[in-house]
Amino acid sequence: MTRPLPLTHRPRRLRRSPGLRAMLRETRLSPEMFVYPLFACEGDGVRREVASMPGVFQHSVDELVREATAARADGVRAVLLFGIPASKDAMGSSATDPEGPVPRAVAALKHAVPDLVVCTDVCLCEYTSHGHCGILDGEGAAVEIVNDATVERLADVARVHAAAGADIVAPSDMMDGRVAAIRAALDADGRTEVAIMSYAAKYCSAFYGPFRDAAESTPAFGDRRSHQMDEANVEEALREVALDIDEGADIVMVKPAMPYLDVISKVKDAFAYPTAAYQVSGEYAMIKAAAERGWIDERRAMTESLTGIHRAGADLIVTYYAREAARALA
Ligand code: PBG
Repeated sequence: MTRPLPLTHRPRRLRRSPGLRAMLRETRLSPEMFVYPLFACEGDGVRREVASMPGVFQHSVDELVREATAARADGVRAVLLFGIPASKDAMGSSATDPEGPVPRAVAALKHAVPDLVVCTDVCLCEYTSHGHCGILDGEGAAVEIVNDATVERLADVARVHAAAGADIVAPSDMMDGRVAAIRAALDADGRTEVAIMSYAAKYCSAFYGPFRDAAESTPAFGDRRSHQMDEANVEEALREVALDIDEGADIVMVKPAMPYLDVISKVKDAFAYPTAAYQVSGEYAMIKAAAERGWIDERRAMTESLTGIHRAGADLIVTYYAREAARALA
């Protein structure tokens, strides 16, 4: 270098030491922002690891309470419950069984860990024999998910979860009008305090693959393109979020997270609303798999991915790493 660099052109000055770097970090993760997904199944003493998601289990209610208690001790404040029912049918009848694994898990958690925020996923796909998120009509290639009949069922599912004590219900189905229907149903039951976290911009993603193993909810035929969003769209995401806020959503979610950081950022900027992002099963499984092969440093990849999601604008992050990340931050 012939000419000395101007003093203002030396950003490395502030990266020289751990102390300087720590002082000047713009984004900080904290365990309060993590939501820990858990899968509730039937039985007693069941703790069955999901093959495609190392470290993630299907838990019977007793084991789920044990896991959530330990997660709370590690600093996690919230869980998101999914159900694996004993029986499935075309209407997803078991989704509204007050004795199903999710309502029982909610009640048990509220009793055992009263300061844990309990969220429940509201969808039919885990409860239908065909694995679709709603009620079907038509034959063969003309089969479709009927919107309004599905929305009525979803509102009933939310009522059952709220009656069991859920703090937040989280509709993940992507039917039109479900947030308004759920809000009206909860209010009619006098559950005005129960909040709605809507999966507002949920994309039709290949990254849900491992989750469908965990929840046993792979569609028996077809796909979810008629209701989940096209990966190429971002203006549509803003319209979806606007609708859900208008219908009464308290928190809006973008899902998946890492391929959609631009969407998270735009949603946060456009609405200044509590915004969640879901680091989904495939995002988790990719890091796990690469780490198992020794191809990636798991702890650093975990922290970097969560930091990126938060930096993009997510206030809350739903992540299978919630417990590990909380421990890493302690
Ligand atoms: C249910 C639901 C899904 C996920 C959350 N809720 C699966 C899907 O839409 O197929 C995916 C979560 C994950 O991949 O971690 N509709």
